[in-house]
Amino acid sequence: MNAKVAIVTGSGSGIGAATAEILARDGASVLVCDLDADSAASTAARIVSAGGAAMPFQMDVTDAQAHGRAVAEAERVYGGLDIAVNCAGISVGPSKLQHTVQDTELSDWQRILDINVNGVFYGLRAAVPMMIKRGGGSIVNVGSVMSVVARTKLSAYVTSKHAVLGLTKAAALDCAEHGIRVNAVGPGYVDTPLLHYKPAETRHAYAQLHPLGRLAKAGEVAELIAWLCSDKSSFTTGSFYAVDGGYSAV
Ligand SMILES: NC(=O)c1ccc[n+]([C@@H]2O[C@H](COP(=O)([O-])OP(=O)(O)OC[C@H]3O[C@@H](n4cnc5c(N)ncnc54)[C@H](O)[C@@H]3O)[C@@H](O)[C@H]2O)c1
Repeated sequence: MNAKVAIVTGSGSGIGAATAEILARDGASVLVCDLDADSAASTAARIVSAGGAAMPFQMDVTDAQAHGRAVAEAERVYGGLDIAVNCAGISVGPSKLQHTVQDTELSDWQRILDINVNGVFYGLRAAVPMMIKRGGGSIVNVGSVMSVVARTKLSAYVTSKHAVLGLTKAAALDCAEHGIRVNAVGPGYVDTPLLHYKPAETRHAYAQLHPLGRLAKAGEVAELIAWLCSDKSSFTTGSFYAVDGGYSAV
């Protein structure tokens, strides 16, 4: 994948960081985008010290204009855009609590949908014109096993991740004639900072939801994303790939 240029949102941490590192390992130049400037800088520094090409870029995915600035930066620094991974996401809103649908705080609902759904839409909307100019590309949206199943007290998150799947299919149809592929991945529970606010016993209980009996590692999800970004998946679009240790097979 020499000379490919990638944008990865949420790549200061977890799955996004692992994805940025694997894309760079495979030869892409990566714009490491995150709300947290320090974590974006750390990921970019790790890539550069491993011999790869990366630049940190501070942005909020809920700001539609910021996505346009990221694409412009990718073009200015690396000459275009071939890969976009919309990974930034949150599982709980500002209250940090999980409630039934009737008790969900409006501010939690709005923040989760703003980041997890609008953030992906803005990313697609900004990336596609540059990829059309380039003659094609590959976009991966990070959904969840919650794109296809639900759990209690998680209505905003479940809704947001089901929406990511619908948006992925709709975008794949709109983009196919331009040679741009759009796919989604659905991780089970992954051992990242997203889960670190949970007590150890809760994380242990989450691990048991997967027939493989453990949480995923970020790199296991990132390898699938990298495959979908690569030319090896050239006939794959509008698809959803679970990487969930068998969770959704039960
Ligand atoms: N960890 C899991 O168990 C799990 C399971 C399924 C799906 N996912 C999904 O994977 C994605 C990444 O999750 P993770 O586990 O790596 O989480 P993480 O918390 O480790 O990383 C998320 C990153 O997104 C960034 N971010 C948050 N809000 C942002 C915003 N408004 N603008 C830009 N960046 C922002 C954070 O700063 C952080 O660096 C999310 O979409 C999440 O829903 C995670």
